[in-house]
Amino acid sequence: MTQETLFVCTLCRFSQPEQAQEELSSGQLLFNQLQAQLEILEDVDPIHLQPVRCMGACDRACVVAFTAPHKLTFILSQLSPTDAVPDLLAFSQQYTACLDGKVSYKERPTTIKQKIHAVLPPLPTNL
Ligand code: FES
Repeated sequence: MTQETLFVCTLCRFSQPEQAQEELSSGQLLFNQLQAQLEILEDVDPIHLQPVRCMGACDRACVVAFTAPHKLTFILSQLSPTDAVPDLLAFSQQYTACLDGKVSYKERPTTIKQKIHAVLPPLPTNL
């Protein structure tokens, strides 16, 4: 089983009035779309998709994070719940395949280049 995880905040909502009236939050919509696409993909080692109830960046919806032991952690924000899906899936494959998670900037999908909120180093191994 893969150790790479894609956390998706399922509570994220856009602040526009039309979004507030919709039943499904933007984050839940993003999560559902990612889940559906991951089920279709015939990836032998797909990233583990994990819903999270708030990651503390609520004014920057939608928010996700790629993380894994011994790899960089990428936190992305202000993602479209629909348009970002193909690039998130493409990056999940790159991230899973990359030993240290340092996917070359040049190779990253456009959404990843534009929507990085923070990048964290791997946890020190001597703790
Ligand atoms: S509601 Fe999504 S980060 Fe807080």
